[in-house]
Amino acid sequence: MPTTPMSVVLTGGGSGLGRVIARTMVEAGHHVLVAGRTGSSLAETVATCSGPGSIESVVADVTDAASVDALFGRAEDRWGRLDVLVNNAGTFGPTVPFDEVPEEDWRATLDTNTTGAFLCARAAFRLMKRQHPRGGRIINNGSISAQTPRPHSAAYSASKHAVTGLTKAISLDGREHGIACGQIDIGNASTDMTAAMGRGVRQADGSIRPEATMDAQHAADAVLYMAGLPLEANVQFLTVTATTMPFIGRG
Ligand SMILES: NC(=O)c1ccc[n+]([C@@H]2O[C@H](COP(=O)([O-])OP(=O)(O)OC[C@H]3O[C@@H](n4cnc5c(N)ncnc54)[C@H](OP(=O)(O)O)[C@@H]3O)[C@@H](O)[C@H]2O)c1
Repeated sequence: MPTTPMSVVLTGGGSGLGRVIARTMVEAGHHVLVAGRTGSSLAETVATCSGPGSIESVVADVTDAASVDALFGRAEDRWGRLDVLVNNAGTFGPTVPFDEVPEEDWRATLDTNTTGAFLCARAAFRLMKRQHPRGGRIINNGSISAQTPRPHSAAYSASKHAVTGLTKAISLDGREHGIACGQIDIGNASTDMTAAMGRGVRQADGSIRPEATMDAQHAADAVLYMAGLPLEANVQFLTVTATTMPFIGRG
């Protein structure tokens, strides 16, 4: 467990995993700027967090470069630096057969999950590169869909596979600036996004079956571990799933 408080920007912090990560970071003594598009849900997140760290919210849309730049400007004003970005904002996108995926839904999913992660990482990278002491860490929330798709999830799977490429590229380009980048691939943490898993979801054989889920806290604890490493060490990829969900093997 790190003892030095870190400054953290966390996107998608108004619900689900983001809210649990925010609470976990603040409880560990870190200072968090939590971002999302909905002020009321961000306010709820802030209300659920209690020290020894601190938390503030900023309404920001990760698909909008000006909004992203304002978010990181706020971080710099607040702390004069940024230690960690957690790129967590995301959307599941359309869940229809491949040939029925609407172009606008495809674009919107990639815009949020891939371009949004890029815009935030770029803004964080720029700040981490010029700050003193220089460097920092970027943690991308991928998914096990960054490794292998679910049926009827082409846009989400493509967007998250692209995040894997983004993680590798940032890791490589960040080396000379002391910037580390890693990715967490989560499977079936209990959130609104995965509420359907317990009721039944489409399997590769076409059947609809319920899937095991896990407490989102396990994923948040993993993010805290990744964030707290000294910059000389990096978790490049970490996969954490509900133990018995159909991912490994053939069901
Ligand atoms: N739960 C899982 O098991 C699981 C598994 C694999 C990966 N993940 C990943 O974990 C992340 C969080 O998922 P979740 O399960 O916690 O779902 P969630 O509750 O739906 O959280 C997604 C968050 O992203 C925010 N968001 C969406 N579009 C945004 C935008 N354009 N700008 C800023 N914020 C935006 C949403 O807030 P607003 O709508 O208010 O902006 C929301 O708070 C996602 O990247 C997801 O792909 C989750």
